[in-house]
Amino acid sequence: MSWPKGLKSWRALRTHYREDLAKRHLRSMFRRDPERYTRFSAEFEGILVDYSRNQVTRKTMRLLKRLARETGVEAMRERMFAGEHINNTEDRAVLHPALRADRDDPYFDGDFDATAAVHEVLDRMDAFVRAVHSGQYAGHATGRKFTDVVNIGIGGSDLGIAMAVDALAGYAVPGMKVHCVSNIDGVGLADVLEQVEPGTTLFVICSKTFTTLETLTNAHAAREWFTERMGAEAVATHFVGVSTNHDAMDAFGISPTNRFGFWDFVGGRYSLWSAVGLSIALAVGMDNFRALLAGGRIMDRHFRDAPLDDNLPVLLGLLGVWNTAFLGYESLAVLPYDSRLARFPAYLQQLHMESNGKRVRRDGSRVSVGTEPVLWGEPGSNAQHSFYQLLHQGTRKASVDFLAPVQASGPSQVQHDLALANLLAQARALSEGLDEDTLKAELGDDHPLVPHKVHPGNRPSTTILFQKLDPATLGKLIALYEHKVFVESVIWGINAFDQWGVELGKKLAGELAGAVSDPDGFQGGDASTRGLLDAIARWR
Ligand code: F6P
Repeated sequence: MSWPKGLKSWRALRTHYREDLAKRHLRSMFRRDPERYTRFSAEFEGILVDYSRNQVTRKTMRLLKRLARETGVEAMRERMFAGEHINNTEDRAVLHPALRADRDDPYFDGDFDATAAVHEVLDRMDAFVRAVHSGQYAGHATGRKFTDVVNIGIGGSDLGIAMAVDALAGYAVPGMKVHCVSNIDGVGLADVLEQVEPGTTLFVICSKTFTTLETLTNAHAAREWFTERMGAEAVATHFVGVSTNHDAMDAFGISPTNRFGFWDFVGGRYSLWSAVGLSIALAVGMDNFRALLAGGRIMDRHFRDAPLDDNLPVLLGLLGVWNTAFLGYESLAVLPYDSRLARFPAYLQQLHMESNGKRVRRDGSRVSVGTEPVLWGEPGSNAQHSFYQLLHQGTRKASVDFLAPVQASGPSQVQHDLALANLLAQARALSEGLDEDTLKAELGDDHPLVPHKVHPGNRPSTTILFQKLDPATLGKLIALYEHKVFVESVIWGINAFDQWGVELGKKLAGELAGAVSDPDGFQGGDASTRGLLDAIARWR
């Protein structure tokens, strides 16, 4: 059977769209039903999801939930929480919820007690972070308190850290600054090294595999810079490793007491809750890091226990599938109205696109419909003055997630209220639009600007509102999106936890690493590679 196109509920949804919705406009849906907001919004523990501005009716939601049941979302969810190896292509369990478990929440990978292992590492992190903050663990020889942390990692070993450190800047431990270095070109590292003093800087080398080219290149460069200034014997104190690969940490010279491990049942893009979050904890303190974990845990329980009707991750996942596969939205813009969430879209990009940017099902057969849309975004008010034009009037349609805290993350509630007003206005403008008749009445029938001023509207958006961007709320938001991605993946039949699509580029980069400096010694590549290598040789 063609999956998911051949499913009964899928076919019913297609018919429903064609017959009931294709010609309806959100403008009239709102006019006809004053209860639309009450009907199509849901709240859990301070996270409010208003999905009334999506092209859905009660029947749509009923059918989407039927789709969730028919595709086995609930059963697969149980399998994940039970530690089954649902990451089938890598034969791994998927237990990132264990990273935020209470001590008595049972999570096992076979006989391996994941909860106990997680708490053992968390307790070591706790002691380490507190010792750094108190100055008890201090710079080599000088005993000076650490003032800077340089996190070196990439992808899942960078994005979540960078995002959370920014988001929780209001909770930063005074006197401690966390810098994130990821890109391979060396610019980021050089910029950071100019700002820090070696004697008071802690380097956290963060890599699940400890083999990633970018991270190892930056880590070696950082160690060289550091050793020249502080001597090789200081490396053991100033370098910390976070990885599943203890041998590689050994080889790098990370002292055994400065190693924080995690496990193969944690995917890189799901890992900020693990020791990968060490730099977050160093930035905001262990109590705030534990509050972040508690937020994630609350969302796990909700996802696991709440009926499909009120289950926020399920609702978001169903809407994601609906907008993409039935309504044809090929991109999702994530627009937070809070500068502190500037890195949130980039974080969600990896979470969504590396998880579900796939075209085959778990068994290798082709998915018969469009899967993950392109995810992109910027903080809202800025973006209004750059790309919203396309959102309102372009021919390429994007669905939108708006996010905002009600309480200001900065010092001015007055200014933040203006941001909120803008969010509300944009959500309304996208759904309602501005039609030709209204414009003609205003400008005159033959006014040449009428076609330019028409806003078609009927463009879907979901608004996620919360009281305050605090650690627990951030934890809930991240876990909400993690489980949303999971729900989508089950419906599409995809394994959301592997990433084979990154391998080919890595392999070719390995082959080309020497070719850039020695093009004559390189025989491979095609005409374009050859031509560009020659150009590089001319301009180097
Ligand atoms: O290349 C993609 C990837 O494997 C991501 O999945 C991962 O988050 C990133 O690289 C970094 O990997 P590591 O933590 O092993 O250095």
